[in-house]
Amino acid sequence: MDSVRDFPQTVDGRSGPAASGEWIDSRDPATGTVWARIPRSDAADVDAAVRAATAAQPAWWGQPALVRAAHLRSVAAAVDAHRDDLARIETRDNGRVLTETAGGDLPACVQMFHFFAGAADKIGGDTVQVGPASVNLTLREPHGVVGVVIPWNAPLSLMSAKVGAALAAGNTVVVKAAEQAACSVLHWATLLADAGLPPGVVNVVAGFGEEAGDALVRDRRVGRLTFTGSTDTARVIQARGADLIRPAHFELGGKSANLVFADADLDAAAVGVSTAAVFTGGAGQTCVAGSRILAHVDVVDELVERVRAVAADVVLGDPADSSTTMGPLVSAEQLERVRRYVDGAPAEGATRVFGGRCGGSAVFGVDSPWAGGYWVEPTLFRVTDQSAPICREEVFGPVAVVLPFTDDDEAVALANASTYGLAAGVWTTDLRRAHRMVRDLDAGSVWVNAYRRIHWALPFGGFGDSGFGKDSGWESVLENTRIKTAWIDLS
Ligand code: NAI
Ligand code: MG
Repeated sequence: MDSVRDFPQTVDGRSGPAASGEWIDSRDPATGTVWARIPRSDAADVDAAVRAATAAQPAWWGQPALVRAAHLRSVAAAVDAHRDDLARIETRDNGRVLTETAGGDLPACVQMFHFFAGAADKIGGDTVQVGPASVNLTLREPHGVVGVVIPWNAPLSLMSAKVGAALAAGNTVVVKAAEQAACSVLHWATLLADAGLPPGVVNVVAGFGEEAGDALVRDRRVGRLTFTGSTDTARVIQARGADLIRPAHFELGGKSANLVFADADLDAAAVGVSTAAVFTGGAGQTCVAGSRILAHVDVVDELVERVRAVAADVVLGDPADSSTTMGPLVSAEQLERVRRYVDGAPAEGATRVFGGRCGGSAVFGVDSPWAGGYWVEPTLFRVTDQSAPICREEVFGPVAVVLPFTDDDEAVALANASTYGLAAGVWTTDLRRAHRMVRDLDAGSVWVNAYRRIHWALPFGGFGDSGFGKDSGWESVLENTRIKTAWIDLS
Protein backbone atom coordinates (compact mmCIF):
# COMPACT_ATOMS: atom_id res chain seq x y z
CA MET A 1 0.00 0.00 0.00
CA ASP A 2 1.51 3.32 -1.09
CA SER A 3 1.55 6.18 1.37
CA VAL A 4 -0.75 9.11 0.67
CA ARG A 5 1.02 11.88 -1.24
CA ASP A 6 0.43 15.61 -0.65
CA PHE A 7 0.31 18.02 -3.60
CA PRO A 8 0.82 21.67 -2.58
CA GLN A 9 -0.75 24.76 -4.14
CA THR A 10 1.51 27.40 -5.73
CA VAL A 11 0.91 31.07 -4.93
CA ASP A 12 3.38 33.85 -5.71
CA GLY A 13 6.10 31.33 -6.56
CA ARG A 14 5.79 29.50 -3.24
CA SER A 15 4.45 25.98 -2.95
CA GLY A 16 2.71 24.87 0.22
CA PRO A 17 -0.55 23.96 1.93
CA ALA A 18 -3.67 26.11 1.95
CA ALA A 19 -3.60 28.99 4.45
CA SER A 20 -6.14 27.10 6.55
CA GLY A 21 -3.93 24.00 6.57
CA GLU A 22 -6.89 21.89 5.46
CA TRP A 23 -6.67 19.17 2.83
CA ILE A 24 -9.10 17.29 0.56
CA ASP A 25 -8.64 13.59 -0.18
CA SER A 26 -8.07 12.68 -3.81
CA ARG A 27 -9.11 9.19 -4.83
CA ASP A 28 -7.74 6.73 -7.32
CA PRO A 29 -10.96 6.11 -9.26
CA ALA A 30 -9.81 2.69 -10.47
CA THR A 31 -9.96 1.35 -6.91
CA GLY A 32 -11.86 4.02 -5.01
CA THR A 33 -9.04 4.43 -2.48
CA VAL A 34 -7.48 7.69 -1.28
CA TRP A 35 -4.02 8.05 -2.85
CA ALA A 36 -3.27 11.78 -2.44
CA ARG A 37 -4.31 14.99 -0.72
CA ILE A 38 -4.83 18.41 -2.28
CA PRO A 39 -5.08 21.75 -0.46
CA ARG A 40 -8.58 22.85 0.45
CA SER A 41 -7.79 26.29 -0.94
CA ASP A 42 -10.39 28.90 -0.05
CA ALA A 43 -11.08 32.63 -0.40
CA ALA A 44 -7.92 33.55 1.54
CA ASP A 45 -5.71 31.56 -0.85
CA VAL A 46 -7.51 32.96 -3.89
CA ASP A 47 -7.06 36.48 -2.54
CA ALA A 48 -3.31 35.91 -2.15
CA ALA A 49 -3.10 34.36 -5.62
CA VAL A 50 -4.97 37.21 -7.30
CA ARG A 51 -2.86 39.74 -5.42
CA ALA A 52 0.34 38.02 -6.62
CA ALA A 53 -0.92 37.80 -10.21
CA THR A 54 -1.94 41.46 -10.15
CA ALA A 55 1.48 42.50 -8.86
CA ALA A 56 3.36 40.38 -11.42
CA GLN A 57 1.34 41.43 -14.46
CA PRO A 58 2.85 44.82 -15.40
CA ALA A 59 6.39 43.42 -15.58
CA TRP A 60 5.22 40.31 -17.42
CA TRP A 61 3.53 42.47 -20.06
CA GLY A 62 6.18 45.16 -19.99
CA GLN A 63 9.06 42.99 -21.16
CA PRO A 64 9.88 42.33 -24.82
CA ALA A 65 7.51 39.80 -26.37
CA LEU A 66 10.42 37.53 -27.23
CA VAL A 67 11.40 37.33 -23.58
CA ARG A 68 7.85 36.26 -22.75
CA ALA A 69 8.14 33.71 -25.54
CA ALA A 70 11.40 32.38 -24.11
CA HIS A 71 9.68 31.87 -20.76
CA LEU A 72 6.91 29.90 -22.47
CA ARG A 73 9.53 27.73 -24.18
CA SER A 74 11.13 27.09 -20.77
CA VAL A 75 7.74 25.93 -19.50
CA ALA A 76 7.49 23.63 -22.54
CA ALA A 77 10.93 22.20 -21.74
CA ALA A 78 10.00 21.64 -18.10
CA VAL A 79 6.80 19.83 -19.09
CA ASP A 80 8.78 17.76 -21.60
CA ALA A 81 11.35 16.79 -18.98
CA HIS A 82 8.63 15.67 -16.55
CA ARG A 83 6.06 14.35 -19.01
CA ASP A 84 6.08 10.77 -17.80
CA ASP A 85 5.64 11.80 -14.18
CA LEU A 86 2.88 14.28 -15.06
CA ALA A 87 1.02 11.74 -17.18
CA ARG A 88 1.20 9.09 -14.46
CA ILE A 89 -0.08 11.49 -11.82
CA GLU A 90 -3.00 12.52 -14.01
CA THR A 91 -3.87 8.92 -14.89
CA ARG A 92 -3.74 7.90 -11.22
CA ASP A 93 -5.92 10.84 -10.25
CA ASN A 94 -8.68 10.79 -12.87
CA GLY A 95 -8.41 7.24 -14.23
CA ARG A 96 -7.96 8.16 -17.89
CA VAL A 97 -5.68 5.58 -19.51
CA LEU A 98 -1.97 6.29 -19.67
CA THR A 99 -1.87 5.62 -23.41
CA GLU A 100 -4.02 8.77 -23.81
CA THR A 101 -2.38 10.99 -21.16
CA ALA A 102 1.24 10.02 -21.86
CA GLY A 103 0.71 9.27 -25.53
CA GLY A 104 -1.50 12.19 -26.49
CA ASP A 105 -2.03 14.93 -23.91
CA LEU A 106 1.49 15.41 -22.61
CA PRO A 107 3.16 15.75 -26.02
CA ALA A 108 0.38 18.20 -26.90
CA CYS A 109 0.95 20.16 -23.67
CA VAL A 110 4.59 20.63 -24.68
CA GLN A 111 3.66 21.75 -28.19
CA MET A 112 0.99 24.13 -26.89
CA PHE A 113 3.56 26.15 -24.98
CA HIS A 114 5.73 26.28 -28.11
CA PHE A 115 2.74 27.33 -30.20
CA PHE A 116 1.85 30.15 -27.81
CA ALA A 117 5.52 31.14 -27.52
CA GLY A 118 5.47 31.61 -31.28
CA ALA A 119 2.34 33.72 -31.00
CA ALA A 120 3.71 36.11 -28.36
CA ASP A 121 5.49 38.46 -30.79
CA LYS A 122 2.84 38.28 -33.54
CA ILE A 123 0.14 40.16 -31.62
CA GLY A 124 -0.56 43.53 -33.16
CA GLY A 125 -3.27 45.97 -34.13
CA ASP A 126 -4.47 47.67 -37.32
CA THR A 127 -4.22 51.06 -38.88
CA VAL A 128 -7.56 52.25 -40.19
CA GLN A 129 -7.97 54.78 -43.00
CA VAL A 130 -10.62 57.18 -41.67
CA GLY A 131 -9.52 60.33 -43.52
CA PRO A 132 -6.55 62.61 -44.23
CA ALA A 133 -6.79 64.52 -40.96
CA SER A 134 -6.08 61.67 -38.57
CA VAL A 135 -4.12 58.51 -37.95
CA ASN A 136 -6.30 55.80 -36.46
CA LEU A 137 -4.96 52.68 -34.88
CA THR A 138 -5.97 49.75 -32.78
CA LEU A 139 -3.69 48.37 -30.08
CA ARG A 140 -4.08 44.97 -28.46
CA GLU A 141 -3.32 44.82 -24.77
CA PRO A 142 -3.85 42.14 -22.09
CA HIS A 143 -6.88 41.96 -19.82
CA GLY A 144 -4.63 41.79 -16.77
CA VAL A 145 -5.28 38.78 -14.53
CA VAL A 146 -7.10 35.87 -16.19
CA GLY A 147 -9.05 33.52 -13.92
CA VAL A 148 -8.88 29.92 -15.16
CA VAL A 149 -11.35 27.31 -13.88
CA ILE A 150 -10.84 23.78 -15.19
CA PRO A 151 -12.56 20.41 -14.75
CA TRP A 152 -11.15 16.97 -13.99
CA ASN A 153 -11.34 15.10 -17.29
CA ALA A 154 -8.17 16.44 -18.95
CA PRO A 155 -6.66 18.91 -16.47
CA LEU A 156 -3.20 19.39 -17.94
CA SER A 157 -4.21 19.89 -21.55
CA LEU A 158 -7.20 22.12 -20.77
CA MET A 159 -5.04 24.19 -18.41
CA SER A 160 -2.18 24.43 -20.93
CA ALA A 161 -4.40 25.78 -23.71
CA LYS A 162 -5.88 28.44 -21.43
CA VAL A 163 -2.70 29.42 -19.60
CA GLY A 164 -0.49 29.40 -22.71
CA ALA A 165 -2.78 31.76 -24.60
CA ALA A 166 -3.25 34.07 -21.61
CA LEU A 167 0.47 34.33 -20.89
CA ALA A 168 1.43 34.86 -24.54
CA ALA A 169 -0.87 37.87 -24.64
CA GLY A 170 0.71 39.40 -21.53
CA ASN A 171 -1.78 38.35 -18.87
CA THR A 172 -0.95 36.59 -15.62
CA VAL A 173 -3.17 33.78 -14.33
CA VAL A 174 -4.81 32.20 -11.33
CA VAL A 175 -5.83 28.60 -12.00
CA LYS A 176 -8.46 26.82 -9.91
CA ALA A 177 -8.09 23.06 -10.48
CA ALA A 178 -11.02 20.66 -9.97
CA GLU A 179 -11.42 18.97 -6.59
CA GLN A 180 -11.79 15.51 -8.22
CA ALA A 181 -8.44 15.62 -10.05
CA ALA A 182 -6.13 18.52 -9.24
CA CYS A 183 -2.86 16.68 -8.61
CA SER A 184 -1.30 16.86 -12.10
CA VAL A 185 -1.86 20.60 -12.42
CA LEU A 186 -0.69 21.25 -8.85
CA HIS A 187 2.47 19.26 -9.57
CA TRP A 188 2.99 21.12 -12.87
CA ALA A 189 2.94 24.43 -10.99
CA THR A 190 5.78 23.30 -8.73
CA LEU A 191 8.03 22.94 -11.80
CA LEU A 192 7.67 26.57 -12.86
CA ALA A 193 10.08 28.17 -10.39
CA ASP A 194 12.92 25.95 -11.60
CA ALA A 195 11.93 26.82 -15.16
CA GLY A 196 12.65 30.45 -14.29
CA LEU A 197 9.10 31.78 -14.42
CA PRO A 198 8.81 34.92 -12.27
CA PRO A 199 6.72 34.46 -9.09
CA GLY A 200 3.05 35.39 -9.41
CA VAL A 201 2.80 34.94 -13.18
CA VAL A 202 1.14 31.55 -12.73
CA ASN A 203 -0.67 30.68 -9.51
CA VAL A 204 -2.49 27.38 -9.03
CA VAL A 205 -4.95 26.62 -6.25
CA ALA A 206 -7.29 23.68 -5.66
CA GLY A 207 -10.28 23.53 -3.33
CA PHE A 208 -14.01 23.20 -3.88
CA GLY A 209 -15.96 24.95 -6.60
CA GLU A 210 -18.27 26.69 -4.12
CA GLU A 211 -15.30 27.94 -2.07
CA ALA A 212 -12.14 28.63 -4.08
CA GLY A 213 -13.94 28.63 -7.44
CA ASP A 214 -16.59 31.06 -6.27
CA ALA A 215 -14.00 33.37 -4.71
CA LEU A 216 -12.07 33.48 -7.98
CA VAL A 217 -15.03 34.16 -10.26
CA ARG A 218 -16.32 36.83 -7.84
CA ASP A 219 -12.96 38.65 -7.63
CA ARG A 220 -13.13 42.11 -9.21
CA ARG A 221 -9.40 42.15 -9.92
CA VAL A 222 -9.84 39.28 -12.41
CA GLY A 223 -10.07 40.93 -15.84
CA ARG A 224 -11.19 37.89 -17.79
CA LEU A 225 -12.59 34.51 -16.89
CA THR A 226 -12.12 31.27 -18.81
CA PHE A 227 -14.06 28.22 -17.68
CA THR A 228 -14.41 24.63 -18.85
CA GLY A 229 -17.00 22.49 -17.12
CA SER A 230 -20.73 21.92 -16.98
CA THR A 231 -23.42 24.18 -18.41
CA ASP A 232 -25.15 24.19 -15.00
CA THR A 233 -22.06 25.54 -13.26
CA ALA A 234 -21.59 28.13 -16.02
CA ARG A 235 -25.11 29.36 -15.25
CA VAL A 236 -24.29 29.60 -11.55
CA ILE A 237 -21.10 31.54 -12.33
CA GLN A 238 -22.96 33.93 -14.63
CA ALA A 239 -25.63 34.51 -11.99
CA ARG A 240 -23.07 34.96 -9.22
CA GLY A 241 -21.21 37.43 -11.41
CA ALA A 242 -24.23 39.41 -12.56
CA ASP A 243 -22.74 42.57 -11.04
CA LEU A 244 -19.34 42.02 -12.65
CA ILE A 245 -18.94 43.48 -16.14
CA ARG A 246 -16.10 41.57 -17.77
CA PRO A 247 -15.34 39.21 -20.65
CA ALA A 248 -15.70 35.51 -20.09
CA HIS A 249 -15.18 32.33 -22.05
CA PHE A 250 -17.28 29.23 -21.43
CA GLU A 251 -16.39 25.82 -22.86
CA LEU A 252 -19.22 23.56 -21.70
CA GLY A 253 -20.86 20.24 -22.31
CA GLY A 254 -22.30 18.61 -25.37
CA LYS A 255 -24.58 15.98 -26.81
CA SER A 256 -22.64 15.53 -30.01
CA ALA A 257 -23.92 13.50 -32.95
CA ASN A 258 -22.07 11.18 -35.27
CA LEU A 259 -23.85 10.85 -38.64
CA VAL A 260 -23.20 7.65 -40.56
CA PHE A 261 -24.42 7.73 -44.16
CA ALA A 262 -25.16 4.74 -46.37
CA ASP A 263 -22.04 5.40 -48.47
CA ALA A 264 -19.69 5.47 -45.46
CA ASP A 265 -16.71 3.17 -44.94
CA LEU A 266 -18.49 1.19 -42.23
CA ASP A 267 -15.35 -0.31 -40.73
CA ALA A 268 -13.87 3.12 -40.18
CA ALA A 269 -17.21 4.48 -38.98
CA ALA A 270 -17.66 1.65 -36.46
CA VAL A 271 -14.38 2.58 -34.80
CA GLY A 272 -14.98 6.30 -35.27
CA VAL A 273 -18.37 6.36 -33.54
CA SER A 274 -17.33 4.04 -30.70
CA THR A 275 -13.76 3.95 -29.36
CA ALA A 276 -12.81 7.29 -30.95
CA ALA A 277 -15.98 9.05 -29.84
CA VAL A 278 -17.50 7.68 -26.64
CA PHE A 279 -15.90 4.38 -25.51
CA THR A 280 -12.71 6.37 -24.98
CA GLY A 281 -9.74 6.03 -22.64
CA GLY A 282 -11.50 8.45 -20.31
CA ALA A 283 -14.72 6.38 -20.40
CA GLY A 284 -16.64 8.92 -22.45
CA GLN A 285 -15.92 11.71 -19.96
CA THR A 286 -15.08 14.17 -22.66
CA CYS A 287 -17.03 17.26 -23.62
CA VAL A 288 -17.03 16.16 -27.29
CA ALA A 289 -18.26 12.62 -26.55
CA GLY A 290 -20.18 11.36 -29.57
CA SER A 291 -23.09 10.20 -27.46
CA ARG A 292 -25.67 10.17 -30.28
CA ILE A 293 -25.07 7.85 -33.24
CA LEU A 294 -27.38 8.65 -36.15
CA ALA A 295 -27.20 6.07 -38.93
CA HIS A 296 -28.95 5.75 -42.28
CA VAL A 297 -31.72 3.18 -42.07
CA ASP A 298 -30.06 1.02 -44.77
CA VAL A 299 -26.87 0.58 -42.72
CA VAL A 300 -27.97 0.98 -39.11
CA ASP A 301 -28.21 -2.76 -38.34
CA GLU A 302 -24.86 -3.51 -39.93
CA LEU A 303 -23.26 -0.57 -38.10
CA VAL A 304 -24.65 -1.70 -34.74
CA GLU A 305 -23.17 -5.18 -35.24
CA ARG A 306 -19.78 -3.70 -36.11
CA VAL A 307 -19.90 -1.32 -33.14
CA ARG A 308 -20.75 -4.30 -30.93
CA ALA A 309 -17.63 -6.07 -32.20
CA VAL A 310 -15.41 -3.02 -31.61
CA ALA A 311 -16.87 -2.50 -28.12
CA ALA A 312 -16.26 -6.18 -27.27
CA ASP A 313 -12.53 -5.52 -27.73
CA VAL A 314 -12.48 -2.60 -25.27
CA VAL A 315 -10.16 -3.55 -22.40
CA LEU A 316 -11.01 -2.27 -18.92
CA GLY A 317 -8.36 -2.61 -16.21
CA ASP A 318 -5.29 -0.92 -14.78
CA PRO A 319 -5.34 2.55 -16.42
CA ALA A 320 -1.52 2.64 -16.37
CA ASP A 321 -1.25 -0.63 -18.33
CA SER A 322 -0.56 -0.13 -22.02
CA SER A 323 -3.08 -2.81 -23.02
CA THR A 324 -5.96 -1.08 -21.21
CA THR A 325 -8.14 0.98 -23.54
CA MET A 326 -10.77 2.36 -21.15
CA GLY A 327 -10.49 3.61 -17.57
CA PRO A 328 -13.10 4.23 -14.85
CA LEU A 329 -15.28 7.28 -14.21
CA VAL A 330 -13.69 9.92 -12.02
CA SER A 331 -15.80 9.65 -8.85
CA ALA A 332 -18.57 7.90 -6.98
CA GLU A 333 -20.86 10.87 -7.80
CA GLN A 334 -20.14 10.52 -11.49
CA LEU A 335 -20.80 6.76 -11.28
CA GLU A 336 -24.18 7.34 -9.64
CA ARG A 337 -25.06 9.95 -12.22
CA VAL A 338 -24.29 7.60 -15.12
CA ARG A 339 -26.04 4.71 -13.37
CA ARG A 340 -29.22 6.79 -13.12
CA TYR A 341 -29.23 7.41 -16.88
CA VAL A 342 -28.49 3.77 -17.72
CA ASP A 343 -31.06 2.36 -15.28
CA GLY A 344 -33.71 4.85 -16.33
CA ALA A 345 -33.34 4.46 -20.08
CA PRO A 346 -35.54 1.35 -20.64
CA ALA A 347 -38.55 3.00 -19.02
CA GLU A 348 -38.04 5.94 -21.40
CA GLY A 349 -38.34 3.69 -24.45
CA ALA A 350 -34.66 2.86 -25.04
CA THR A 351 -33.65 -0.73 -25.83
CA ARG A 352 -30.31 -1.91 -24.51
CA VAL A 353 -28.08 -3.33 -27.26
CA PHE A 354 -25.11 -4.18 -25.04
CA GLY A 355 -23.42 -3.18 -21.78
CA GLY A 356 -25.16 -1.52 -18.86
CA ARG A 357 -23.15 -2.82 -15.90
CA CYS A 358 -22.15 -0.02 -13.52
CA GLY A 359 -19.74 -0.22 -10.57
CA GLY A 360 -16.45 -2.09 -10.10
CA SER A 361 -17.95 -5.18 -8.52
CA ALA A 362 -20.63 -5.47 -11.24
CA VAL A 363 -18.05 -5.14 -14.02
CA PHE A 364 -15.14 -7.14 -12.52
CA GLY A 365 -16.64 -9.22 -9.66
CA VAL A 366 -16.49 -8.57 -5.92
CA ASP A 367 -13.03 -10.12 -5.49
CA SER A 368 -11.35 -7.98 -8.13
CA PRO A 369 -8.81 -5.27 -7.13
CA TRP A 370 -11.06 -2.91 -9.12
CA ALA A 371 -14.25 -3.84 -7.24
CA GLY A 372 -14.31 -0.53 -5.36
CA GLY A 373 -13.66 1.57 -8.47
CA TYR A 374 -16.07 3.68 -10.48
CA TRP A 375 -16.34 1.50 -13.58
CA VAL A 376 -18.95 1.42 -16.31
CA GLU A 377 -18.73 -0.86 -19.32
CA PRO A 378 -19.33 0.38 -22.88
CA THR A 379 -23.09 0.69 -23.23
CA LEU A 380 -25.32 1.22 -26.27
CA PHE A 381 -29.06 1.85 -26.43
CA ARG A 382 -31.29 1.85 -29.48
CA VAL A 383 -33.98 4.53 -29.60
CA THR A 384 -36.72 5.53 -32.03
CA ASP A 385 -36.79 9.22 -31.13
CA GLN A 386 -34.77 11.63 -29.02
CA SER A 387 -37.25 12.31 -26.24
CA ALA A 388 -35.52 10.31 -23.48
CA PRO A 389 -33.16 12.17 -21.11
CA ILE A 390 -30.35 9.87 -22.28
CA CYS A 391 -30.76 11.41 -25.76
CA ARG A 392 -30.92 15.03 -24.60
CA GLU A 393 -28.69 15.38 -21.55
CA GLU A 394 -24.95 15.04 -21.17
CA VAL A 395 -24.33 11.63 -19.56
CA PHE A 396 -20.52 11.92 -19.35
CA GLY A 397 -19.84 8.20 -19.45
CA PRO A 398 -19.27 5.41 -22.01
CA VAL A 399 -22.92 5.45 -23.01
CA ALA A 400 -24.37 6.14 -26.46
CA VAL A 401 -27.70 5.91 -28.25
CA VAL A 402 -28.25 4.88 -31.86
CA LEU A 403 -31.12 6.18 -33.98
CA PRO A 404 -31.89 5.64 -37.69
CA PHE A 405 -32.60 8.37 -40.26
CA THR A 406 -33.90 8.13 -43.83
CA ASP A 407 -32.35 11.09 -45.68
CA ASP A 408 -29.85 13.93 -45.32
CA ASP A 409 -32.42 16.50 -44.24
CA GLU A 410 -33.67 14.28 -41.46
CA ALA A 411 -30.08 13.54 -40.39
CA VAL A 412 -29.33 17.26 -40.06
CA ALA A 413 -32.60 17.95 -38.27
CA LEU A 414 -31.97 15.17 -35.75
CA ALA A 415 -28.36 16.21 -35.19
CA ASN A 416 -29.32 19.85 -34.66
CA ALA A 417 -32.24 19.00 -32.34
CA SER A 418 -30.14 19.66 -29.25
CA THR A 419 -29.67 22.66 -26.99
CA TYR A 420 -25.92 21.94 -27.23
CA GLY A 421 -23.70 22.65 -30.23
CA LEU A 422 -20.19 21.46 -29.46
CA ALA A 423 -19.13 18.92 -32.09
CA ALA A 424 -20.34 16.55 -34.79
CA GLY A 425 -18.94 13.70 -36.85
CA VAL A 426 -19.83 12.90 -40.45
CA TRP A 427 -19.09 9.55 -42.07
CA THR A 428 -19.50 9.64 -45.88
CA THR A 429 -17.47 9.16 -49.05
CA ASP A 430 -19.48 11.81 -50.94
CA LEU A 431 -17.53 15.07 -51.08
CA ARG A 432 -20.56 17.25 -51.70
CA ARG A 433 -22.47 15.70 -48.83
CA ALA A 434 -19.45 16.23 -46.57
CA HIS A 435 -19.35 19.95 -47.38
CA ARG A 436 -23.11 20.33 -47.00
CA MET A 437 -22.91 18.74 -43.56
CA VAL A 438 -20.06 21.04 -42.49
CA ARG A 439 -22.27 23.95 -43.58
CA ASP A 440 -25.52 22.75 -42.03
CA LEU A 441 -24.49 21.22 -38.71
CA ASP A 442 -24.85 23.51 -35.72
CA ALA A 443 -21.60 22.64 -33.99
CA GLY A 444 -18.33 24.39 -33.22
CA SER A 445 -16.24 21.48 -34.58
CA VAL A 446 -17.27 19.17 -37.43
CA TRP A 447 -15.11 16.16 -38.20
CA VAL A 448 -15.46 14.33 -41.52
CA ASN A 449 -14.38 10.68 -41.51
CA ALA A 450 -12.67 11.36 -38.18
CA TYR A 451 -13.71 12.11 -34.62
CA ARG A 452 -12.35 13.91 -31.53
CA ARG A 453 -9.48 15.53 -33.40
CA ILE A 454 -8.33 18.52 -31.38
CA HIS A 455 -5.17 20.47 -32.12
CA TRP A 456 -3.55 23.48 -30.47
CA ALA A 457 -3.50 25.37 -33.78
CA LEU A 458 -7.25 24.98 -34.30
CA PRO A 459 -9.78 27.09 -32.39
CA PHE A 460 -12.04 24.88 -30.28
CA GLY A 461 -15.37 25.79 -28.69
CA GLY A 462 -19.09 25.35 -29.05
CA PHE A 463 -22.37 27.08 -29.78
CA GLY A 464 -25.61 27.31 -27.80
CA ASP A 465 -25.53 25.63 -24.39
CA SER A 466 -22.00 24.40 -25.23
CA GLY A 467 -20.73 27.91 -24.60
CA PHE A 468 -18.91 30.64 -26.46
CA GLY A 469 -15.33 31.69 -27.10
CA LYS A 470 -12.40 29.55 -28.15
CA ASP A 471 -9.54 27.61 -26.65
CA SER A 472 -6.48 27.04 -28.88
CA GLY A 473 -5.55 28.60 -32.17
CA TRP A 474 -4.85 32.23 -32.93
CA GLU A 475 -8.41 33.13 -31.88
CA SER A 476 -7.63 32.11 -28.31
CA VAL A 477 -4.69 34.50 -28.24
CA LEU A 478 -6.83 37.35 -29.56
CA GLU A 479 -9.56 36.62 -26.98
CA ASN A 480 -6.90 37.11 -24.34
CA THR A 481 -6.44 40.70 -25.51
CA ARG A 482 -8.63 43.77 -25.42
CA ILE A 483 -8.60 46.36 -28.20
CA LYS A 484 -7.82 49.98 -27.62
CA THR A 485 -8.58 52.43 -30.42
CA ALA A 486 -6.46 55.57 -30.92
CA TRP A 487 -7.36 58.68 -32.92
CA ILE A 488 -4.39 60.94 -33.51
CA ASP A 489 -5.39 64.26 -34.96
CA LEU A 490 -3.13 65.62 -37.71
CA SER A 491 -4.90 68.90 -38.46
P1 NAI B 1 -18.33 21.48 -12.74
O1 NAI B 1 -18.65 22.26 -13.95
O2 NAI B 1 -19.10 21.77 -11.51
O3 NAI B 1 -16.76 21.65 -12.40
C1 NAI B 1 -15.83 22.28 -13.23
C2 NAI B 1 -14.98 23.25 -12.41
O4 NAI B 1 -15.80 24.30 -11.91
C3 NAI B 1 -14.30 22.63 -11.18
O5 NAI B 1 -13.01 23.19 -11.01
C4 NAI B 1 -15.21 23.08 -10.05
O6 NAI B 1 -14.54 23.15 -8.81
C5 NAI B 1 -15.59 24.47 -10.52
N1 NAI B 1 -16.82 24.98 -9.91
C6 NAI B 1 -17.91 24.29 -9.50
N2 NAI B 1 -18.81 25.12 -8.98
C7 NAI B 1 -18.31 26.37 -9.06
C8 NAI B 1 -18.77 27.65 -8.68
N3 NAI B 1 -19.97 27.81 -8.11
N4 NAI B 1 -17.99 28.73 -8.92
C9 NAI B 1 -16.81 28.57 -9.51
N5 NAI B 1 -16.29 27.39 -9.87
C10 NAI B 1 -17.04 26.30 -9.66
O7 NAI B 1 -18.47 19.95 -13.13
P2 NAI B 1 -18.76 18.67 -12.19
O8 NAI B 1 -19.80 18.99 -11.18
O9 NAI B 1 -17.47 18.18 -11.70
O10 NAI B 1 -19.36 17.62 -13.25
C11 NAI B 1 -20.75 17.54 -13.48
C12 NAI B 1 -21.06 17.36 -14.95
O11 NAI B 1 -20.51 18.43 -15.69
C13 NAI B 1 -20.44 16.13 -15.60
O12 NAI B 1 -21.20 15.00 -15.38
C14 NAI B 1 -20.43 16.54 -17.04
O13 NAI B 1 -21.70 16.33 -17.61
C15 NAI B 1 -20.16 18.03 -16.99
N6 NAI B 1 -18.73 18.34 -17.20
C16 NAI B 1 -18.34 18.76 -18.44
C17 NAI B 1 -16.99 18.98 -18.69
C18 NAI B 1 -16.51 19.43 -20.02
O14 NAI B 1 -15.39 19.10 -20.40
N7 NAI B 1 -17.26 20.22 -20.74
C19 NAI B 1 -15.97 18.75 -17.67
C20 NAI B 1 -16.50 18.37 -16.39
C21 NAI B 1 -17.83 18.15 -16.20
MG1 MG C 1 -8.88 11.86 -7.91
